[in-house]
Amino acid sequence: MALPKINPTHTKAWTKLQKHFDSIKDVHMTQWFSENKNRATDMTIKWRDFYVDYSKNRMDAKTMDLLLELAEETQLKAAIEKQFQGDVINETEGREVLHTALRSPITSKIMVDGEDIIPEIHEAKAKIKAFTDDVVEGKRKGFTNKAFTDIVNIGIGGSDLGPAMVVEALQYYKNQLTTHFVSNVDGDHVNEVLKKLNPETTLFVIVSKTFTTQETLSNANTIKDWFLKSASKGDIAKHFVAVSTNIENVKGFGIDESNIFPMWNWVGGRFSLWSAVGLSISLAVGYDNFDKLLAGAHEMDEHFKIEDFKTNIPVVLALIGIWYTNFFESESEAVIGYSQYLNQFATYLQQANMESNGKSVDRNGDKVTYQTGNIVWGEPGTNSQHAFFQLIHQGTKLIPADFIGFAKSLHGNKDHQDKLMSNFIAQTEALLNGKSREEVISEFKAQDTSEAAIQQLTPFKIFKGNKPTNTLLIDQLTPESLGKLVALYEHKIFVQGVIWNVYSYDQFGVELGKQLATKILKELNTTDQLADHDSSTLNLLAYYKQLT
Ligand code: F6P
Repeated sequence: MALPKINPTHTKAWTKLQKHFDSIKDVHMTQWFSENKNRATDMTIKWRDFYVDYSKNRMDAKTMDLLLELAEETQLKAAIEKQFQGDVINETEGREVLHTALRSPITSKIMVDGEDIIPEIHEAKAKIKAFTDDVVEGKRKGFTNKAFTDIVNIGIGGSDLGPAMVVEALQYYKNQLTTHFVSNVDGDHVNEVLKKLNPETTLFVIVSKTFTTQETLSNANTIKDWFLKSASKGDIAKHFVAVSTNIENVKGFGIDESNIFPMWNWVGGRFSLWSAVGLSISLAVGYDNFDKLLAGAHEMDEHFKIEDFKTNIPVVLALIGIWYTNFFESESEAVIGYSQYLNQFATYLQQANMESNGKSVDRNGDKVTYQTGNIVWGEPGTNSQHAFFQLIHQGTKLIPADFIGFAKSLHGNKDHQDKLMSNFIAQTEALLNGKSREEVISEFKAQDTSEAAIQQLTPFKIFKGNKPTNTLLIDQLTPESLGKLVALYEHKIFVQGVIWNVYSYDQFGVELGKQLATKILKELNTTDQLADHDSSTLNLLAYYKQLT
């Protein structure tokens, strides 16, 4: 059964939210904190190793009640059930959306086209485990009988960003293998990676659900040519494996059928790191850690499925996001991980979020009349404090931010960890409270600043505060907690897509540019007159051709 097709702005809750927004939009959060001493406790969800404090948001208890009404009126509960049980909720592509099945235990049962998919998922996991163990233990060898030292993941989008983000995030758990990622069709990318490699000891994992993606195939072919300068065709079987649904194309590339890991149409690329698309994760940190990542995600799935919406972390964070996007009309949200390990987390989330909910036609096929799909961006703290925080603190835009931190550091350097976490806590406090005129003046006075200087400088030193943040404090960065965190954001995206009444699991918007690039590529190598373009494009083509 398909997802409901309810225009959120036609619900009673939406009208009530609009009215409520008008009455509280100018309230400073500090007022609510002084009126309700229990505000932080009331607005904190403690679940397993997650502490999620959403009290520093421009909302009160009534806001959340109305948002929960919105979730009810848009039939979120039923939508969640439909997703988990394998209904064809990706209607525009005629597919189920079952990345959650990839992390379900062997005892579960999920039917697709009349067949339980759990056995084949676990068969694929067994293949990932056996392969990983052989490579990590040095039993599987290259064409000169040497153990592998380097792994190269060749893929783009969902076939790159998830694995790359996780491998970096879990580098503390890494084994002796060095992992590389080649994604961009820019030949300088692949050449820079190849410079570091020895063909005798490198294993290449080509990841492409479709096995038709220009970037991935170009990189794979360039790498194969490079490899064949040192080895023979028969050696490809030892050094190249693929993850794909397109068996014919993979075989055509020259990869042995036994070296193909399965992918399924019911897994979207940007939600696929839990499948064999995550093979490079398994190789980098070992299968047990990969399995723990999946187990953590499964725990979050259960929380999302079962927990009352009021204390359901993905639901609450999604509703808060809708509050800012559709009522405060904020255009972006920042995600700041206070951990260098989360360096690529925002980049990963950009695809997951923006490719999913960057839609302007609703599930009825009508143009939406409200905002959908936020812009997601961010960099780790504390680096980001010294880069773009000025704009968040004192700029004109409202930028809600998620602060993600881990209480215990992995290397256990208390001095650094306390400094890091004091910044983590201080920033959300500063964003909440700001600094008043009175505080600025008394600070100046304490420094014996002249009256004239006080008069002149005070306006620039005032911070309005009232800038919203969510704090996600997690005990420690482990494969399990990372799995929970990623699944949390996946579900947040789903909830928002359901409420915005859009199809979150297609991505037709990326097609047009690809089609035109194919056409332009041909034109770059012809002397024929080019006509079918606007004048800007024609000039660019001519100028480029003249230079190359
Ligand atoms: O960017 C479009 C897209 O289709 C993504 O959704 C996908 O993750 C990526 O391209 C790569 O696709 P494939 O795995 O088929 O090479």
